[in-house]
Amino acid sequence: MRRSHSCGALRASHASQTVVLQGWVNRRRDLGGLIFIDLRDREGLTQVVVEPDDAAAFAAAQEVRGEFVVEVEGEVRLRPEDQRSERSPSGAVEVVARRLEVLSPAKTPPFLVDGSVDAREVSEELRLKHRYLDLRRPQALAPLLLRHRVTKAIWDHLDAQGFVQVETPLLTLSTPEGARDFVVPARLRPGAFYALPQSPQLFKQMLMMSGVDRYFQVARCFRDEDLRADRQPDFTQLDIEMAFVDQDDVLELNEGLMAEVVRAATGAEIPTPFPRLSYRAAMDRYGSDKPDIRFELELTDASTAFAGTEFRGFASVLDGGGTIKALRVPAGPAAALTRRVLDELEAHAKRHGARGMAWLRRGADGAFSGPVAKFLGDGERDRLAELAPDEGDVLLLVADRWKTACTALGAVRSRLPEVLGLELDAERLAFLWVVDFPLLEEDEDGGWTYMHHPFTRPFDEDLAALETDPGSVRAHAYDLVLNGNEIGGGSLRIHRLDVQRRMFRALGFSDAEAERRFGFFLEALAYGAPPHGGVAWGLDRLVMLLSGVPSIRDVIAFPKNQRGVDPLTGAPAPVEPAQLAELGIALEEGPS
Ligand code: AMO
Repeated sequence: MRRSHSCGALRASHASQTVVLQGWVNRRRDLGGLIFIDLRDREGLTQVVVEPDDAAAFAAAQEVRGEFVVEVEGEVRLRPEDQRSERSPSGAVEVVARRLEVLSPAKTPPFLVDGSVDAREVSEELRLKHRYLDLRRPQALAPLLLRHRVTKAIWDHLDAQGFVQVETPLLTLSTPEGARDFVVPARLRPGAFYALPQSPQLFKQMLMMSGVDRYFQVARCFRDEDLRADRQPDFTQLDIEMAFVDQDDVLELNEGLMAEVVRAATGAEIPTPFPRLSYRAAMDRYGSDKPDIRFELELTDASTAFAGTEFRGFASVLDGGGTIKALRVPAGPAAALTRRVLDELEAHAKRHGARGMAWLRRGADGAFSGPVAKFLGDGERDRLAELAPDEGDVLLLVADRWKTACTALGAVRSRLPEVLGLELDAERLAFLWVVDFPLLEEDEDGGWTYMHHPFTRPFDEDLAALETDPGSVRAHAYDLVLNGNEIGGGSLRIHRLDVQRRMFRALGFSDAEAERRFGFFLEALAYGAPPHGGVAWGLDRLVMLLSGVPSIRDVIAFPKNQRGVDPLTGAPAPVEPAQLAELGIALEEGPS
């Protein structure tokens, strides 16, 4: 290697050594007699001084501009006391260039990467279009370095626990995880398509049937769904599966692994085991199956308090078997709940399915004010006083079917830290398991659909109700939640063919349809499958939260934008007509 040191390596102890550095010109300052170049690479910055008595080097340095790639040979010298930079670890020294060679010139970049401009001032589209420039900024590269440490910790820890990394196919059949498939036409079978995997779910289960026993994979997954700040069409899971385990075995393995990962990524120690909350309790108390437990503000049930109410809106919900959920905002913070803010929160509740959100503010004399206050009878007022004991307390109220009421008020709850100005501890990592999910939920057409995927094992004691009362069946399914984000999910799996067939029937598949789509898997189940279970983490999401960056795009080297486009390569793009012809594909409207 011609390079003797990185640009972040030199310290006072290197003074008087001759070194060779290579890197990018972060900034060049020409002080007439002297030229200063800050040379940059992944490791840091080193100041290079070019003096005019070294004519060749000086002439070369005069040509150099920002982002040129140069090689410098010279002697390390201590900088004068008053010129040392505390900000850079190499700030105590400089390199006096004897030789400077331009390895490659550079056009003026479309945005500055030298740290003088806040990245937020540059449009994300432009940064992604020139992502190779964007990543020259240490702040942009940092999440990828952290991601590397996370992946390494995963490999080390799981290897030590006897896990085997196995790669599963990317060109495969559909794996149902609730999204649309990306499909790939197969040239050799015109009219037939591969699907890119939404997850390796069926393959990892079949690896358990193969006797692999403990599998993991840092697996690319593909889902064609609406994009959000925490979603990408291709993303990465840490995928794990274990045979001959029960639910506690899987959760404990995950807790130990997560502790190791967080230690490697940030140095922090996290307490284990993580709290566990049933789905029912999570919805009841937080209105969410991925609650942020860094702040309290829990939901309560106000149905009893409103029993016999004169307010028609609430009475009809209660008569129809619905629920009135309440969220008490205590007097101090509740001062922020002005009419305008309450209107905003109501609009938010409506966006999450509620027909409305009422509120009551407790006044000085124990009376309530607010849109439904005039309907309150004495009994109601007394019961509500228990829910809002202090003067100035505000009760936010949503009446609806249980799930809608919980979800809408939960959505309001998640807006409260911002609205009330609550300071959440950004350093705190509040992990939580949500367990005991229902196996099925009702879909829009009144049928039943899986909550996780069709391979999730029902509770043995609930199985009898699969046909008669599907909504009551609980599943051995669990989600891993971090600060209000779902960062993982998994379950014990159905390992009995008869149960798997019943599950498909409960989902409305005819036996023929189940056979057509999943026949290969049903057959595998018929040859002796061990009880097994596992989990998948959203690796990008986890790294996003551990890095403290706002978007999943910040932790992916070459991400897609909000429209699913990669601004760098321009993908997706039309293909040549010849390529389409070869695939036997005709476009209805021509290329877009
Ligand atoms: P699930 O569908 O819950 O489970 O996915 C696991 C985790 O992957 C992350 N995730 C995503 N991350 C970024 N972009 C996306 N589009 C995206 N979709 C999901 C989430 C999620 O918790 N096969 C099951 C796992 C199992 O049962 O073992 C599965 O895929 O953080």
